[in-house]
Amino acid sequence: MSSAADPLLEYRRHFPSVERTLHFASHTLGAMPAGVAESLAEYANTWDQRGIRAWEERWMGVPSQVAGAIARLLGGAEGTVSLHPNVTSAQDVALSCVTFRPERPRLVCTAEDFPSVLYLYEGLARRGAEVVRVPARAGRRMIEEDIVAAIDERTAVVAISLVLFRTAQVLELSAIARRAREVGALLMVDAYQGAGVLDLDVKRDDLDLVTGGSIKWLCGGPGTSYLYVRPQLAPTLSPAVTGWFGHEQPFAFDTDGPHRLHAGERRFWNGTPSIPAYLASRPGIELVAGIGGAAIREKSLRLTSRMLELAREWGWKVGSPLEEARRGGTVCLDLPNAAAVCADLLAQDVLLDHRPGVGLRLAPHFYTRADEVDEVMARVRTSVERMGR
Ligand SMILES: Cc1ncc(COP(=O)(O)O)c(C=O)c1O
Repeated sequence: MSSAADPLLEYRRHFPSVERTLHFASHTLGAMPAGVAESLAEYANTWDQRGIRAWEERWMGVPSQVAGAIARLLGGAEGTVSLHPNVTSAQDVALSCVTFRPERPRLVCTAEDFPSVLYLYEGLARRGAEVVRVPARAGRRMIEEDIVAAIDERTAVVAISLVLFRTAQVLELSAIARRAREVGALLMVDAYQGAGVLDLDVKRDDLDLVTGGSIKWLCGGPGTSYLYVRPQLAPTLSPAVTGWFGHEQPFAFDTDGPHRLHAGERRFWNGTPSIPAYLASRPGIELVAGIGGAAIREKSLRLTSRMLELAREWGWKVGSPLEEARRGGTVCLDLPNAAAVCADLLAQDVLLDHRPGVGLRLAPHFYTRADEVDEVMARVRTSVERMGR
């Protein structure tokens, strides 16, 4: 398909590595935009040339510029997103706003959430929370009704993934959000595997708290994660995990009175912001926010449909959902010798990964050409045949 027929191929020129590889790993590490090298060189140069003046002249503005692009991508208003080094920390900050009281001790999550946040919730159990982990059904499928049934008046927080990291199953949030609202629980959605590949809209879906990060679909590398807080909710939340950048006047260095939290999104900050990570992530995040989730989703569905068509033709077992509304951006191919096949393909510059129980994981993105989909599937087929011998 030419760039006239596929307008998103216009963005491919920003990603030199996709010309050297078959890049099908955006669910784990998105391709690096060329702008990263320039952004980091400018960071080093500013530090070197401007010294302490770098903060005022450049760096202090960076977190809100990056957060602003993320807010646009999520459909949120300016000033609703704060940045954090990873999702675990972002969720830690959000959960530190909640007191798990004896009459409302519960955090409801699912067995298919990302391990790091499940470990964080386990830690909360030491501080009075009662963690209810809703189990998956056969094939690691989560059923929304099971989650709704677990939410009651004892629930303080519902913390779930929008797209499950292993199987790329998309959860339909509306009934869960309705039930959480009904019982007065906060809903926190881990959108790491959704934002940047799904048409996410925090206002349309009226979400309370959303977390995610830069590494995957946002092509921003490691180091930038975000916390979106619904604007009406934000002033009612006071994080216990906080620090001087959360103060309304950090440079007053005030220790005489109690901590006075900033009125805006900075109330969710804590220590000194990680400027180089935010600068490295900015080119990718701005590109993805500029394209928008709707156009990426439309293309992603088209390309994953082709992959599924070939998988069906070749009789392959697929571990990710087949239905459009249920599948995220990743196709899981449950093939024999997945680990060896993955290693074989990586050695050929075919970028993908594999996970125990679901097999090979492959994801096209906005920079993928349609012919590369056929090419990668053929390469997997050859490798499976070779490894099977
Ligand atoms: C759904 C999901 N949540 C969270 C993470 C990562 O969490 P953290 O940023 O804390 O490493 C990942 C993947 O790395 C993920 O797929």
